[in-house]
Amino acid sequence: MITLATPDHIQALVTLENKLFSKDDFPLSKGSFYYHIKRNDLFVYMHDNELAAYVLWLKRKKYYRLYSLGVSTHLRGTGVAEELLEYSFNRLQVSIYTLEVKTTNSSAITLYEKFGFRKQKVLKSYYPNNYDGYFMRK
Ligand SMILES: CC(C)(COP(=O)(O)OP(=O)(O)OC[C@H]1O[C@@H](n2cnc3c(N)ncnc32)[C@H](O)[C@@H]1OP(=O)(O)O)[C@@H](O)C(=O)NCCC(=O)NCCS
Repeated sequence: MITLATPDHIQALVTLENKLFSKDDFPLSKGSFYYHIKRNDLFVYMHDNELAAYVLWLKRKKYYRLYSLGVSTHLRGTGVAEELLEYSFNRLQVSIYTLEVKTTNSSAITLYEKFGFRKQKVLKSYYPNNYDGYFMRK
């Protein structure tokens, strides 16, 4: 089941976030999740009463920017990210979506391309430790 996140989800979001992203990737903190729940669009995927995935979209005047997406390791490859993206596009209903992704994150890039995102440019040293990123747009 996918729902809009509420402050009640914050503890589970932080737990998942720290499993998904290392310190080098600046995992979102409790305070950041609270801020985004109030200001932006954060959808959570519940599986057997567990928060198993989420997607966070930042609201801009004319588009949405995908800021973070993560699926718990035990559910990967079962279509959860796809469900979250489909749900998002149905709910958000704008004509432009953007995102940044590490050039080395091939599973995420394949996923985004499947949904119509296209690489627009390389963002040199965009990530910590000088990792490059792609700016993608749909
Ligand atoms: C990237 C990520 C969100 C994919 O989630 P997922 O639920 O496993 O993805 P799905 O099962 O919905 O797969 C959908 C599509 O994504 C692509 N994909 C997913 N995993 C892939 C992999 N390991 N290799 C290649 N393509 C992959 C495929 O196109 C797949 O479609 P297909 O099954 O028809 O081939 C997940 O691996 C993850 O949480 N990674 C860590 C966090 C992260 O990197 N987030 C994105 C950047 S913020």
